[in-house]
Amino acid sequence: MLLGCLSAAESGGPSGDLRADASRGRELYALYCSVCHGSGGAGDGPTASWMFPRPTNHTDHDYMASLSDEYLYRVIQKGGPSVGKSSWMAAWGPALSNQEIRDLIAHIRALSRT
Ligand code: HEC
Repeated sequence: MLLGCLSAAESGGPSGDLRADASRGRELYALYCSVCHGSGGAGDGPTASWMFPRPTNHTDHDYMASLSDEYLYRVIQKGGPSVGKSSWMAAWGPALSNQEIRDLIAHIRALSRT
């Protein structure tokens, strides 16, 4: 168990099924993410128009289906630059717990039906 935790930490985050409580994730999303990603996740939040590249459209089924849970965890925890994306996508690791990131992933999966 302890070894499992250590190796997960070394590889940059937990692996496996990272989806948790989608309804809690929806509340967190409204609070922290919707200003850029839009309340419905379509990448059309109030600040989106002056951002390039635009915040990702989390309702794009085909695109979201191409991303693994591990990848989503990493982007949310460590920010856009950790995967070669925009630094407008901040690292939320300092602000969000492991559980909260998993709740957010569940909500994003619900938005994209993936
Ligand atoms: C300040 C604006 C902003 C906020 C707030 C924000 N994001 Fe983002 N996010 C972006 C932008 C811009 C991108 C697109 C990066 C790119 O394509 O280079 C992005 C990309 C992403 C991606 C996809 C990365 C990819 O490879 O396509 C995920 C997942 C994501 N954000 C989740 C979240 C979550 C969850 C939150 C809330 C905890 C959040 N974002 C808050 C701006 C933001």
